[in-house]
Amino acid sequence: MRLQLMVWPEVEEYLKRSSGIIIPIGSAEQHGPTGFIGTDALCPEIVAETLAKEVDALIAPTISVGMAQHHLGFPGSITLRPTTLISVIGDYVASLSCHGFDRFYFVNGHGGNIATVKAAFDEIYAESSLGTAKHNRAGIRCVLRNWFDCPSVHEIEAEAFGEANGSHATAGEVSLTYFAYPEDAARIKSADKLSPEIAPTGSFYDSADYRRRFPDGRIGSDPTLATEALGEKLRAAAVKDLAADYNKFLNAE
Ligand code: NI
Repeated sequence: MRLQLMVWPEVEEYLKRSSGIIIPIGSAEQHGPTGFIGTDALCPEIVAETLAKEVDALIAPTISVGMAQHHLGFPGSITLRPTTLISVIGDYVASLSCHGFDRFYFVNGHGGNIATVKAAFDEIYAESSLGTAKHNRAGIRCVLRNWFDCPSVHEIEAEAFGEANGSHATAGEVSLTYFAYPEDAARIKSADKLSPEIAPTGSFYDSADYRRRFPDGRIGSDPTLATEALGEKLRAAAVKDLAADYNKFLNAE
């Protein structure tokens, strides 16, 4: 159930049976010429909605903008600086911990967030260790799970796309969003192959460097292979893996 669609007495009731909450986190950044700018936030939301039903959990409002400085060479991309994202995560956790939540399960859709989210968790634990926490109570546990790293997701992608899944604007993530938003997908889908069919791979520094190396925004992928049917399969695969993991997390010391 989405926190945004609940009333406070319902949240109070929920807290009597669970202190866990799922927080989708993503990014608002270009995903090549055939992928939504919101792909990395939409994917964890899509997964979280089914996951939450499976494990009887609440879903916090999605953190839809992440650390995406390298995508600013493309119109529509938005970034938070790493320090801003650390503050946002800290304030989310501190707010929710005021009410009794203490198990924070972040479902992430963007590789570029990982280092910053981990730094944010260490800031939270440092407050507890140093005894400077105003709101963060001792015993808070935060974990980050990348939906795209679920073993069952990897299996499906490897079989369906092989190397052409890529690492940015992947055929897998594009499939998942096409499945969830078919009307908008119909508008942006490409009937023709992109050129080159499989995008180049490699590393990058800032946004100008990124755009020079990856002119249409993709890295290593051929997202024209994306289908709605595969998107549905990927959601089921991610939910299966994450449901088992969430229950383990909630019941651990
Ligand atoms: Ni992405």
